[in-house]
Amino acid sequence: MKTDVCRVLPGQAEALEKAAKILQEGGLVAFPTETVYGLGANGLSGDACKKIYEAKGRPSDNPLILHIADLAQLPQIVCQVPPKAKQLMEAFWPGPMTLILPKTALVPDTVTGGLTTVGVRFPSHPVAQALIRAANLPIAAPSANLSGRPSPTEAAHVLHDLNGKIPLILDGGPCEVGLESTIIDATGPEAVILRPGAITKEMIEALLGRAEVDPAVMGQMAPGMTPRAPGMKYTHYAPKANVTVVRGSREKVIDTINARTACDRACGKKVAVLATEENRQNYQADNVFSLGRQEDLCQVGASLFLLLRRCDEVGADQVYAEGFLEQGEGLAIMNRLRKAAGGEILEVD
Ligand code: TXA
Ligand code: MG
Repeated sequence: MKTDVCRVLPGQAEALEKAAKILQEGGLVAFPTETVYGLGANGLSGDACKKIYEAKGRPSDNPLILHIADLAQLPQIVCQVPPKAKQLMEAFWPGPMTLILPKTALVPDTVTGGLTTVGVRFPSHPVAQALIRAANLPIAAPSANLSGRPSPTEAAHVLHDLNGKIPLILDGGPCEVGLESTIIDATGPEAVILRPGAITKEMIEALLGRAEVDPAVMGQMAPGMTPRAPGMKYTHYAPKANVTVVRGSREKVIDTINARTACDRACGKKVAVLATEENRQNYQADNVFSLGRQEDLCQVGASLFLLLRRCDEVGADQVYAEGFLEQGEGLAIMNRLRKAAGGEILEVD
């Protein structure tokens, strides 16, 4: 199958119409959202959604989330909206937040992996909204990467992972947030964050008074426990290189990374460092990439997946990444870094 890449420009309906037609006929289309690119299919068709799992190589017990572009689409897919969920919707939709809600019988088991709940998101990206409206369907869409790879934040990343496997990629330029949506289970007495994102714990607490974080987010799973978002159990975001996150005081982090880099290079390994802008000049590695300024966590979040992919492009064997405090968007950044590093964080204080 040939994969077309269509740049979507304001006021040009042609690419959107083509994409909507593919979705209505049961095919797949990759499209931009404000978080990451999604791989969309008709969310009411089990057969269409099956193709998503095949294209991504995704385990079939990892459920998909449904995207809407109008609250009027909710009753079709969700049978109840608890009060806390309603407050969250009013505050943060459209935007980078997914809510876990009780599903209706119309939502196929292929979407939810047999769960009685479904994840729903109302994205703010104009292309995502226009596509959902044009297709006139809830669109099931996981991130448009091959399973296990960093989520795509540009159309080129989607093409790299899925070339030949899907008919169309809508190119809407780079994604503004760059990290996947915050997933919140608001079906119980307390809102529980299953995956952190740009809608932060602090923002949810300011709204609801309290917010819990699923232990899987911080890598704190007791033996035998399963994360409440099935996808959190899989290795993810991993470049081909080994990734080590180093966190602590500025001097210790720089010294540790430089000492280890020297060792690795003496063994013939190619080393890349993901550094904050303030520290980038201090590293002696084959490649040093700037994540952005320390206090600009939005920029760090937006560049993280892109730079993990860049590490592969330059053929790094070992990647060292500076760690962040788990506050604000730092919780989401560390969650993705922890997964990229297979859980290994070197604390050097
Ligand atoms: O920002 C995003 O959320 C992007 C864009 C495309 O919208 N989508 C995305 O989808 O990241 P995906 O499939 O890569 O991640 C969705 C996560 C998975 O970890 C999945 O296990 C979890 O949501 N999930 C889906 N349905 C769920 C449910 N009913 N209960 C708990 N977790 C669920
Ligand atoms: Mg994903």
